[in-house]
Amino acid sequence: MLARLSLVALAAAASSLAQEIPATASPEQLALVNAQYQNSGLNDGGNAGFGIELNSAALLSIVYGFGVVENGQTYSVDQVAEAPDVYVTPASDTAAEFNSSAAYTLMLADASSLGDPDTRGNYRHFLGNGFTGAAASGSNLTFQPENGEVITSYAAPGPIAGTGPHRYAWLMFTQPGDFAAPANLSSPGTAAAPWYVSSYVQETGLQLVAASFFTVQNGEPTGSVASTQAVNTATLSVSSAASSTSSGASASASAPASGGNDSSAAPKSIVASVAAGLLGLGAALMA
Ligand SMILES: *[C@@H]1O[C@H](CO)[C@@H](O)[C@H](O)[C@H]1NC(C)=O
Ligand SMILES: *[C@@H]1O[C@H](CO)[C@@H](O)[C@H](O)[C@H]1NC(C)=O
Ligand SMILES: *[C@@H]1O[C@H](CO)[C@@H](O)[C@H](O)[C@H]1NC(C)=O
Ligand SMILES: *[C@@H]1O[C@H](CO)[C@@H](O)[C@H](O)[C@H]1NC(C)=O
Repeated sequence: MLARLSLVALAAAASSLAQEIPATASPEQLALVNAQYQNSGLNDGGNAGFGIELNSAALLSIVYGFGVVENGQTYSVDQVAEAPDVYVTPASDTAAEFNSSAAYTLMLADASSLGDPDTRGNYRHFLGNGFTGAAASGSNLTFQPENGEVITSYAAPGPIAGTGPHRYAWLMFTQPGDFAAPANLSSPGTAAAPWYVSSYVQETGLQLVAASFFTVQNGEPTGSVASTQAVNTATLSVSSAASSTSSGASASASAPASGGNDSSAAPKSIVASVAAGLLGLGAALMA
């Protein structure tokens, strides 16, 4: 168990959802996550995203009390109030990158307030370095990162009311052999605060190898936020289509778990069909 990230209260819920943690990742699943990350604009620089590309080598399963995070899904503040458990599932041809001498950085960051880039950059909600863990042997490659040094403890997403949907991402990096935490981000107890993910990554030589991302919104968005909300929820219908095996992006399949904040059905299906065409979604759906 990932002591610093797990909660005793979640243990029962997590074990009842165990079948939702995959045993291996397929190349199509990894490509789908990369596309969802891009569709959400999380690779964008200039205060609109994290300014780094995702090259998934594993699936990242983030398990909150409600279950496993679906990329692009909207969750309530309450649903993500407590720190989750983290599971990593490599593909058979990437498993060697997750070996017993590898070390990982895990973080949770808010990209920005959509449509209104935050001039202070991204926001750090969790940061830990030196996690260890290797791909399990046998047919199930999944493992849990453990024993990391937590620099910034979990600060639950809590967007300011009216600032629209905020895009939160759990990011997992492999550390270079000579990794050294920057001096001002090396002490446990460093508070959650604005920062730039790309600066941190460049300074430390991290490689982004897995990600899981979702949206949290508090209250009604302002007008300037609405146009970019569609970009974000578009990824939701891709992942919902994937789990429902439907070839279309039905609105009912992509209803948010929080039950109400999602009203952009038309843009969803448009972007979903583009993504389906690009990826040959049918092949990616069933694994
Ligand atoms: C794979 O292993 C993980 C970690 O032990 C477990 O939680 C999950 O249920 C397993 N998945 C499958 C499909 O067996
Ligand atoms: C939207 O969700 C937020 C929490 O994410 C909640 O506080 C708010 O009341 C919801 N708004 C509507 C209209 O349901
Ligand atoms: C072990 O993992 C690290 C980090 O992913 C990687 O750089 C290294 O090449 C791996 N070693 C082997 C033998 O695959
Ligand atoms: C750490 O220092 C760098 C470089 O001076 C600065 O850009 C960054 O904002 C600082 N980060 C924190 C969390 O203080």
